[in-house]
Amino acid sequence: MKAVWIGIIGVSALLLTGVVQADQNLAQSSGCLNCHMVDKKMVGPGFKDIAAKYRGDAGAEASLHGKVKNGTKGVWGPIPMPANTGVSDDNIKILVKWILALK
Ligand code: HEC
Repeated sequence: MKAVWIGIIGVSALLLTGVVQADQNLAQSSGCLNCHMVDKKMVGPGFKDIAAKYRGDAGAEASLHGKVKNGTKGVWGPIPMPANTGVSDDNIKILVKWILALK
């Protein structure tokens, strides 16, 4: 019985990390991680810093979607973010939701 519980806990932990991992993989394959890191600033701001800046801002998801799609500058520093033209709207949506939910 004990082994069964350990098995169940193990599988749920795997499923949870699986979801986070999938979004991180999408960020990787979309090229975001060439300039961004989750935990700290690289070329662009850390994704957790972005989440903290817009926490509680109901319009953030829509406005960041447009910025990721078309590029943006002047919010975090002198380096602009170019338009991410190769990334579909659906994937931008997933990525922005994932970034804003980071803690
Ligand atoms: C060539 C480098 C580069 C790439 C690739 C890149 N970014 Fe950025 N990103 C930046 C920089 C630099 C900034 C800060 C721009 C500024 O100061 O306004 C930024 C800002 C952001 C912001 C915050 C915008 C704001 O106004 O607060 C988000 C969200 C973001 N990036 C998401 C993404 C996502 C998602 C991807 C992948 C689809 C991505 N970035 C790809 C460099 C990049």
